[in-house]
Amino acid sequence: MNVARKLYIKSFGCQMNVYDSHRMADTLASEGFTETPRIEDADLVILNTCHIRDKAQDKVFSELGRVRAIKEAAARSGRQLTIAVAGCVAQAQGEEIIRRSPAVDIVVGPQSYHRLPALLERAKRDGRAIDTEFPVEDKFDNLPPPPREATRTRGVCAFVTVQEGCDKFCTFCVVPYTRGSEFSRPVLKIVSEVERLAESGVREVTLIGQNVNAYHGDGPDGRAWPLGRLLAHLSELPGIARLRYTTSHPADMDASLIAAHRDLPKLMPYLHLPAQSGSDRILAAMKRRYRRADYLRLIERLRAVQPNIAFSSDFIVGFPGETEDDFKATLSLVDAVGYAGAFSFKYSARPGTPAAELPDQVPEAQKSERLYRLQAAIDRNCARFNAQWQGRAVLVLFEKGGRYSGQIVGRSPYLQPVQVMASRDLIGRLASVRITRVSSNSLFGVLAPDADRLAREQHQLSAGA
Ligand code: SAH
Ligand code: SF4
Ligand code: F3S
Repeated sequence: MNVARKLYIKSFGCQMNVYDSHRMADTLASEGFTETPRIEDADLVILNTCHIRDKAQDKVFSELGRVRAIKEAAARSGRQLTIAVAGCVAQAQGEEIIRRSPAVDIVVGPQSYHRLPALLERAKRDGRAIDTEFPVEDKFDNLPPPPREATRTRGVCAFVTVQEGCDKFCTFCVVPYTRGSEFSRPVLKIVSEVERLAESGVREVTLIGQNVNAYHGDGPDGRAWPLGRLLAHLSELPGIARLRYTTSHPADMDASLIAAHRDLPKLMPYLHLPAQSGSDRILAAMKRRYRRADYLRLIERLRAVQPNIAFSSDFIVGFPGETEDDFKATLSLVDAVGYAGAFSFKYSARPGTPAAELPDQVPEAQKSERLYRLQAAIDRNCARFNAQWQGRAVLVLFEKGGRYSGQIVGRSPYLQPVQVMASRDLIGRLASVRITRVSSNSLFGVLAPDADRLAREQHQLSAGA
């Protein structure tokens, strides 16, 4: 059954989809599929889709138009191309996708990826296969672990899903409907996955989940472990130099996680903590479960235990009923926190979510105007954050060759790309860099062994990895 076939897979949306795409490729590898970067060569195309905003969904249907044309061209030359739609649009729209795009052969929701081989068989037999159930078995138990060679090509940094789904039901959001209720993977499953990654050369692991700090997976002691405890355990594994986690909900930052930022040198002092709005009225209407003052207090608590910590966030402008005063409260929150970076989005009414039914939807032009002002405020904060690194030493984990020969690129603890002229031997290692130039999206510097001590103090990190 292992006929050589080619798979082209494209991910939209969040890191969870990127992770799932790798795992789908791993599952299909055992069916004889190898990945190709050229869609024209593929026997199977998987679009791993995102449903979070209108635009994300529109992208999928325009991409499907392109894939259909390729399928028709392949058919003319006697080749069969199978098209699968996976991810959150698949979950939300199911059969409707095939009605809109009859060239689609398979629709598979995020909880059913381990069933892909069977779905391929079914599609071959019946012409179509749809699976958008939330099966009782754990997909992670039924997906093969990442093969060593495959992870090696995935580089120095890797993502590991530790938690899926969401029970928060913020009134604007589709995630609880597309990903189902909250679920945490058991501790030992995660540990063995991280060990494998470390063996294959991965040095930095980002634990991911729609609501990652709601993590409460079964520990080997029979108790539910909070995320802080999981991080402490992982930071002991040989080879792992850096840990991160994303995305966190402000209401789930428990004491164990705050303590982890104090106690774990390998836990990077950079936290994505989406605020969404700075106005209490809007936060209540969003059902976010915190007020502006709670959010600011949390930032203070984290800064108290880890003075080097920096923050990023997500914001929505133009939530139904948002007034100019509400919006100004968001602007002032941005300045009060002094974010190192942030994503901002125009509110997009999603069918089936409570906020889509609210009166007082904000006109599109006003949303655009607020988005523009918010982005200017965020850019100002981000530039201020980057500028402070001029002349200072930072510890960089080098990931790959740079654009120019002789150059290598890595990341600072704050995910800033850092470009340095240095030997490729440093890839996969931490080294201290003195920053000589700061541009809008990158830092440039020179290797500075003398600055090692300084950088270590700065980030309380060991350069041992
Ligand atoms: N679980 C995370 C967010 C995951 S979705 C949290 O609670 O913070 C990623 C981001 O998309 C959200 O933070 C939000 O800013 C944005 N988003 C979600 N639904 C949206 C909608 N309907 N319109 C605009 N932006 C939205
Ligand atoms: Fe969506 Fe995040 Fe709210 Fe969950 S916590 S409903 S994922 S915005
Ligand atoms: Fe999009 Fe689904 Fe992620 S809606 S943001 S792909 S959880």
